[in-house]
Amino acid sequence: MRVEPTKRMDFRLGGGRTTVVFQREFRIPELEPPAAGLLVVFDRNTRGLFGAGVRPAVVVPRGEAAKKWKHALALNREAVERGLTRTGAMVGVGGGAVCDLTAFAASLYMRGCRLALAPTTLLAMVDAAIGGKTGINYLGYKNVIGTFYPAEVVWIGISALESLPEEEYRSGLAEVIKTALLGDPALYETLTRRREAVLGRDADLLLEIVRSCVAVKGRIVEEDFRESGRRAHLNLGHTFAHALESVTTLGKRGFTAGLRGRRPGAGVGRWSHGEAVAWGIARAMDLGVRLGVTDAAYAEEVDRLLDLYGFRRSVRRSSAEGLVDAMGKDKKRQGDRLRFVLQRRLGETVVEEVDDAAVRALLEEAGVS
Ligand SMILES: NC(=O)c1ccc[n+]([C@@H]2O[C@H](COP(=O)([O-])OP(=O)(O)OC[C@H]3O[C@@H](n4cnc5c(N)ncnc54)[C@H](O)[C@@H]3O)[C@@H](O)[C@H]2O)c1
Repeated sequence: MRVEPTKRMDFRLGGGRTTVVFQREFRIPELEPPAAGLLVVFDRNTRGLFGAGVRPAVVVPRGEAAKKWKHALALNREAVERGLTRTGAMVGVGGGAVCDLTAFAASLYMRGCRLALAPTTLLAMVDAAIGGKTGINYLGYKNVIGTFYPAEVVWIGISALESLPEEEYRSGLAEVIKTALLGDPALYETLTRRREAVLGRDADLLLEIVRSCVAVKGRIVEEDFRESGRRAHLNLGHTFAHALESVTTLGKRGFTAGLRGRRPGAGVGRWSHGEAVAWGIARAMDLGVRLGVTDAAYAEEVDRLLDLYGFRRSVRRSSAEGLVDAMGKDKKRQGDRLRFVLQRRLGETVVEEVDDAAVRALLEEAGVS
């Protein structure tokens, strides 16, 4: 007998409630009771892919270029001009950038109008659309302005992933691996044993994977909505990753993780966010082993899993000094020590403060000179 999978999950987030609906087919989300009016937000890609017949719609630029004050204001202007009331809703259809922008704009409009999200990238399905963090970039700093404002409904239609470019898909996969390590042994097992189906985007399997990730993130965020404790675990691998992104060429994103005015590092190549996260997870495992926190056999297993999905685990010709410097400017510094999310083993996560010197030594050992 085939067990009918869960079609929806409810989370209590900061006094609000988010219902996440899981379906094979993509659809623009509906609210219950129906919204008094809708403002549907797409980016240029998602408008073409999913916007047929949707009126009225607002189209913002693709990627990080959408996460600007002027676009948040433009959405509010549209809402005013169309007479949207607080019982009307903004609906974001796209990747993490559209979700972050729409949620931010909705949190401001009339002190907060209704909000629904339809994430169309793997990363947005498993991460950005879940948990209520909204944000725009400002003065060269990523997500420096934002609010906590969970969506009422998150509509996950797996078929949206069929058109996703490989690089974006892999970016999401790195976050899926991270989520498995944080708290889902069954998902970890699936990733280990079903690589071909995962890479082949088998729809049933993806539905199961996304559902598992949403369950893990939703539980963590329910417990710690405003990130005063456990929610920080979701940053596993990200201190290293943001530093790497800030010193390497970011291509289309062209944006650094909160580091103003830095030039992309020479010779280190182009790293997508997902690749940087995978590299960061590998470094967090190394650091944990070095500090006697992480079980060495577990760290090796994680390394094998990252290898299985073809993620690069080493970076050549970058500067350990530059990376440590970049980490110092990231949000995760406490005094003169850096904070890292580390793991003892699968599902056992801790936050440790570590001396710069130890991090530099680790990076040098990992081939970064
Ligand atoms: N709020 C949070 O908790 C949270 C968590 C993680 C990441 N984020 C944010 O998410 C953003 C990254 O999100 P992302 O990785 O989804 O990138 P993105 O939103 O920039 O989308 C990547 C690209 O894929 C295109 N695209 C989207 N869906 C598509 C589809 N189905 N088919 C083809 N192309 C499609 C987009 O147009 C864009 O060009 C960052 O700004 C990050 O800060 C937020």
